[in-house]
Amino acid sequence: MSSISYLNGEFLPASEARISPLDRGFIFGDGIYEVIPAYGAKLLRLDEHLQRLNDNLDAVRIKQPLTLDEWRSVLNEMVTRNRESHGDEQSIYLQVTRGVAERDHGFPDDNVAPTLFIMSAPLKPLSDTVAQKGVVAVTREDIRWKNCHIKSTSLLGNILLRQQAYDDGAVEAILIRDGEVTEGAASNLFAVIDGILTTPPKGPLLLPGITRDLILELAQKKAIPSQEATVTPQQLNNASEIWLSSSTKEILPVTTLDGEPVGNGTPGGLWRLMSQHYQNYKQQLRDA
Ligand code: PDD
Repeated sequence: MSSISYLNGEFLPASEARISPLDRGFIFGDGIYEVIPAYGAKLLRLDEHLQRLNDNLDAVRIKQPLTLDEWRSVLNEMVTRNRESHGDEQSIYLQVTRGVAERDHGFPDDNVAPTLFIMSAPLKPLSDTVAQKGVVAVTREDIRWKNCHIKSTSLLGNILLRQQAYDDGAVEAILIRDGEVTEGAASNLFAVIDGILTTPPKGPLLLPGITRDLILELAQKKAIPSQEATVTPQQLNNASEIWLSSSTKEILPVTTLDGEPVGNGTPGGLWRLMSQHYQNYKQQLRDA
């Protein structure tokens, strides 16, 4: 049973989806994307993802290809159609590009329709090894552009940084710009500083992660002290816990940073607590 994708109004096997090489997503990386996890075949925080998508399309002046109701229905149908091949835990990837046009840096004519492509992949739970041992991260200079709040498909900076992390035996590069920690190459960052769960404030230098918001919300509900505040590299080095968050990896405990142990070098107590709250939240979605 092959994976089903969606291209410009049509559901079809992923292997049969075709786009023109003149698509501006291919030529320029001129597009916006989202990654939405589904648990129990239900999309997590769908409205929040669609709101961010809408904000991003507006920011780069790409036309909305669907109405809100159409988005909800197409995305839910994607999950349903892929249940047999991928199961009930999936990650849905969607991208909207500025469409197909002769190559010119300026925008094409108004009548050029955006291209919409959606695919699904099975979502794997966090491995026992990661939960027991945590992961390795390295710090790197944030070489990306200054509109990192936009979830652009132009990801060359992120890709190079992530690969540098892999080359160094790490799973993620934690990025530093002008003396401030921003986020990971494909994740947001949390650090426990003086007992307070801290994450850098939203702004143009980092992606406003949906998982990040959910973690802050859970912290507030469960009376875990938390704040959105600047994190310096020195504070990061002294943090008792460091976490990475994203829709596909949930919350990863970093136990080694630049070759040094974080805290006592094992996943921290606050991480275990928050992970449990996060798992409970997922379970409520499945049961809803
Ligand atoms: N990436 N920051 C960056 C640069 C990211 O690419 C991501 C997610 C996040 C976390 O955002 P969210 O919690 O909304 O997933 C932060 C996705 C998963 C990806 O590119 O595959």
